[in-house]
Amino acid sequence: MKKTPIISSFHVLPILLLTISLPSINCDLVDQICKKTPFYDLCISTLRSNSNNSAESSDVKGLASVAADILLSNATDTLNYIQSQISQTSDPQMERALAYCAELYIPVVKYNLPQAIEALSKGKFEFASDGISDAAKQADACEKNFSGSLNSPLSDRNKLLHSLSDVAVAIVKLLLKG
Ligand SMILES: *[C@@H]1O[C@H](CO)[C@@H](O)[C@H](O)[C@H]1NC(C)=O
Ligand SMILES: *[C@@H]1O[C@H](CO)[C@@H](O)[C@H](O)[C@H]1NC(C)=O
Ligand SMILES: *[C@@H]1O[C@H](CO)[C@@H](O)[C@H](O)[C@H]1NC(C)=O
Repeated sequence: MKKTPIISSFHVLPILLLTISLPSINCDLVDQICKKTPFYDLCISTLRSNSNNSAESSDVKGLASVAADILLSNATDTLNYIQSQISQTSDPQMERALAYCAELYIPVVKYNLPQAIEALSKGKFEFASDGISDAAKQADACEKNFSGSLNSPLSDRNKLLHSLSDVAVAIVKLLLKG
């Protein structure tokens, strides 16, 4: 009986096919996940912008932490921007509103988001979701502080933060549903 070579070639073929199709499985996952978030385009560009999008982004949990990492990096960048604006303005009303926004962003950047990201890695999805949605709440509260003649220099940033937070929460909610 010399069947062995035939059997082993049948084993090689599926493995070969699986290896070839892996990248498209990954793309499909991003696409599927993003369709379940409120901002499809933002979700796609956020998850694809990830520089090391290999092993980490191959499952829903990995993609949720990529989204949360980018949210934190955006919030950090916005806080730095607020602080630079505070030092540049000569309008006391503007300075007060900016200082109030900094107070709102500091806990988000220092505690809420880092704790949410840690919770995510430990599978505490409910806690992670709460921490991530705090970022949207604080961005809104910051934006509301600019009223009347005081134009917000942070509108675009606050809006992006809110949307990124909504996207990340939507992905974490998929994990909660299991
Ligand atoms: C903020 O988020 C946008 C959209 O995902 C991304 O393109 C940008 O690089 C982020 N900025 C920072 C500083 O993380
Ligand atoms: C890339 O992966 C490393 C290790 O997993 C992680 O510490 C880092 O934050 C990741 N960088 C980005 C941009 O996601
Ligand atoms: C910003 O909010 C704080 C706290 O609610 C309030 O005291 C302050 O008057 C607000 N500033 C502006 C410019 O709306």
